[in-house]
Amino acid sequence: RPVDDPARPGHDLVVVANRLPVDSRTLPDGATEWVTSPGGLVTAMESVMRTVDSGAWVGWAGSPGQEPDPFDADGMSLYPVRLDQEDIERYYEGFSNATLWPLYHDVIVDPEFHRTWWDSYVAANRRFARTAAPVANEGGTIWVHDYQLQLVPRLIREERADVRIGFFNHIPFPSVELFSQLPKRNQMLRGLLGADLIGFQRESDTQNFLAAVRKLLGYHVDGQTISVPGLGAAPVREVVAQTFPISIDSSKVSALTEDEEVRARAEQLREDLGHPRTIVLGVDRLDYTKGIRHRLKAWGELLGDGSVDPRETVMVQVATPSRERVEAYRQLRDEVELTVGRINGDHSSIGRPAVSYQHRSFDRRDMTALFMAADVVLVTALRDGMNLVAKEYVASRPDLHGVLVLSEFAGAADELRAAVMVNPHDIDELKAAILRAMAMPAEEQEEAMRSLRHQVMENDVQAWAHSFLQRLEHSGAEVREPKPT
Ligand code: ADP
Ligand code: F6P
Repeated sequence: RPVDDPARPGHDLVVVANRLPVDSRTLPDGATEWVTSPGGLVTAMESVMRTVDSGAWVGWAGSPGQEPDPFDADGMSLYPVRLDQEDIERYYEGFSNATLWPLYHDVIVDPEFHRTWWDSYVAANRRFARTAAPVANEGGTIWVHDYQLQLVPRLIREERADVRIGFFNHIPFPSVELFSQLPKRNQMLRGLLGADLIGFQRESDTQNFLAAVRKLLGYHVDGQTISVPGLGAAPVREVVAQTFPISIDSSKVSALTEDEEVRARAEQLREDLGHPRTIVLGVDRLDYTKGIRHRLKAWGELLGDGSVDPRETVMVQVATPSRERVEAYRQLRDEVELTVGRINGDHSSIGRPAVSYQHRSFDRRDMTALFMAADVVLVTALRDGMNLVAKEYVASRPDLHGVLVLSEFAGAADELRAAVMVNPHDIDELKAAILRAMAMPAEEQEEAMRSLRHQVMENDVQAWAHSFLQRLEHSGAEVREPKPT
């Protein structure tokens, strides 16, 4: 049912995500400021939605209790969903980020299970579904994103039989053994199976999901196709689970490196850092999945044993503030900042840090300048759905210089085979990989970067969205007879 308001007609494509692409902040004078929301989901989907006519985005505006009226920005219509303080504590910080996030990232920290958090997750998912359902045109497409909204596909289907529903999981999907720990696991699977097409980053995620559906729900699975029994006399629905590795707006990032001002900023950065021979860079949300502690441990040891000379080399660690009220994130911040302080205390000289630590957001131009200045980028995730930073670095190096050190536990490792691969849990291996990257001859860098760029430039986020939406358009078959399980 399209909205009745003729001033706000319905939309052919509706994206539903926990966050809007912009966060509202209240300034000291009471005015509202809108800033880009953090994370890979927004980076990717924002570029996709810029190319879509008649697109809408349903999500939270990032502050408690706010539900501004729908408004237009950057050629799309934004429909804010209200989350009160208690929803934020239980649905967002609780069930989403202290239950699902650690469980789906292979329990790097212990997931907490609380029934009140689950109740709030259900209620919040209902609110997102209720806001999204009327926004789509008759026969339109609703594309739901990520682990915070896994019940939304089914909730929308209950209201809108006419629309196609896609779901994409930006983070890993765990093995069935780990997933089975989740209280309400079957409700979660049934929620997802309200979609016609369910997308994952890596083939292993898709296989984990299919195994969970087979084992926990006992549904028939044939290749990528799941037969989902209808209710009562309703026909069986066919739902497809498939792998779609997400990407970035590669040509846009690459083009930024031609911008004179961005080039000047990259040069200025090198100068500000005291013209080191080597700049080693890490860029992450401050999240325990990113392996920042492992990276700093390796770096501290390399400085300590004299393998790296702090007079010639600087590590820049950019750490975007993230989920700051969740305990595991507070602890991580304390540990990271303690370690950075120790390394700098032991190895910095006045005016030349061993680690330049930046706990803040950068705009896209500054981020590109950083990538252009970096001789080595370290992506040492312990688990990561994709890791767009790895792809952004590659897109920022049309000069074919620079080395990417990439964890095999990041989704990007399936595609970026020419990176220096590393198991970040093995500190000795990590140290050796960093030294290898720092010493790599120019011709070897060029050869690897050429291969990486081929991958990233050919497979951009527009191609990713196009293949998902194409597949969605051809999915959603209904069959009369239930297949045997
Ligand atoms: P995640 O989605 O877990 O945050 P990704 O690596 O996939 O991880 O995506 C992170 C996105 O956020 C990238 O586009 C990256 O450039 C951006 N980003 C990370 N740190 C910062 C920062 N300090 N300032 C601005 N953007 C950042
Ligand atoms: O998939 C990446 C992601 O987890 C998004 O779902 C999320 O929006 C983003 O990173 C940032 O996290 P948050 O929204 O909790 O700040």
